[in-house]
Amino acid sequence: MNFRLIAAGAAAAFALTGPVIAAEGSTGASTLRALGAHIQLHIGTAAIPSDLSDPTLSQITAEQFSVLTPGNEMKWQVVEPEQGNFNWTGADNLVNFAEANHQRVRGHTLVWHNQLPNWLTQGVANGTISNDQLRDLLHQHITTEVRRYRGRIWQWDVVNEMLADSNPSQVKPTDFWISHLGTGILADVFRWAHAADPDALLCYNDYNIAGEDGSNAKFNAALTLVKSLLSQRVPIDCVGDQGHLDLQFGFNPILMSQDLQAFANLGLKVAITEADVRTFVETTDSSQTPIVSRTDLTPNHTADPAAADWYNGMLQSCLAVKACISFTVWGFADAESWVPGTFAGEGDADIYDVNLNTKPQYTALQQTLSLATGAPKRGDHDRD
Ligand code: G3I
Repeated sequence: MNFRLIAAGAAAAFALTGPVIAAEGSTGASTLRALGAHIQLHIGTAAIPSDLSDPTLSQITAEQFSVLTPGNEMKWQVVEPEQGNFNWTGADNLVNFAEANHQRVRGHTLVWHNQLPNWLTQGVANGTISNDQLRDLLHQHITTEVRRYRGRIWQWDVVNEMLADSNPSQVKPTDFWISHLGTGILADVFRWAHAADPDALLCYNDYNIAGEDGSNAKFNAALTLVKSLLSQRVPIDCVGDQGHLDLQFGFNPILMSQDLQAFANLGLKVAITEADVRTFVETTDSSQTPIVSRTDLTPNHTADPAAADWYNGMLQSCLAVKACISFTVWGFADAESWVPGTFAGEGDADIYDVNLNTKPQYTALQQTLSLATGAPKRGDHDRD
């Protein structure tokens, strides 16, 4: 796929119309993807199978976003549930949906400690898979998956969440992959992915690596890691900052843009890859656990303006850095969010509510994108 031609075509088409939020609500020229296209910023979402099949969800997925990340469907656990038995259905569906809707794909993720198949983790634990065999299996996994989608993936999250949540931070010695294969594996996996698809942008992806921890500890560790990879001539092209924020902690958008720029100064692209802003939610019935499905109780949305401000801050941090090529939310609908299942009592993290109405979080992104395309000049009003 020639990504450059598609981007040029989209930009030319939208240049004719210009952003007109007030007149068109959240459709047509004022969708997030259309507004982003004016400035060649791709606006993305994580998508799970229902986002591609449910009529309302799939319409939003197609209309609002120009890049999709599979929420789970490209993870090893899903694509090879039993050794040698592959299930590419979900991944194929996502790539086909994206292409049908002129969207790009962020592949996610090749090397992560989580969502590994049981046959692999159990084999390692009981000694039937040696470290040498594990290395071969990882090589094979990366080669098989990246080759399968060669030419159809824009960015691959090759390595995900390899840094410790400590101050100072470092590559986690206890990580599944590091503890078995050593830190040298991080250079190898980028090389293997590059051999399988030389045109895909290869990323390191993590959370709290653009100042969200307040201390910049993880940013410093990420910078050290990517500098080390670059010094070894490893084919790494980008750094993805996930952007999972929580209103109970701090967030400094200025620090985020400085940190993103520091990665960019190394010659790398950067991206916000999994943005959401969670908070504690109250329901109208305290006997109920907070929202887990669309039919559950409507949460109290009093925190929405604060969350909108933080979404906006993340987008502005990306906009401030020329090398920031995509801004992706980790799902758009509260009813499908991963947050309530992981953080008890928290939710309200997304840009659409449980009834699929846009929230202030959406409007904030929309307005900022619109302004980023250029506010109208005021002219000379001296004599008005
Ligand atoms: O598919 C099974 C289903 O068969 C079973 O009935 C059900 C019962 O719990 O579980 C289903 O699997 C769940 C899977 O999502 C698919 O829905 C897993 O339990 C659940 O743990 C898994 O959560 C995913 C999580 O990664 C795992 O760590 C989330 O959907 C996914 O959004 C989340 O995404 C991660 C990124 O990959 C990396 N960055 C953080 C981000 C949020 O945690």
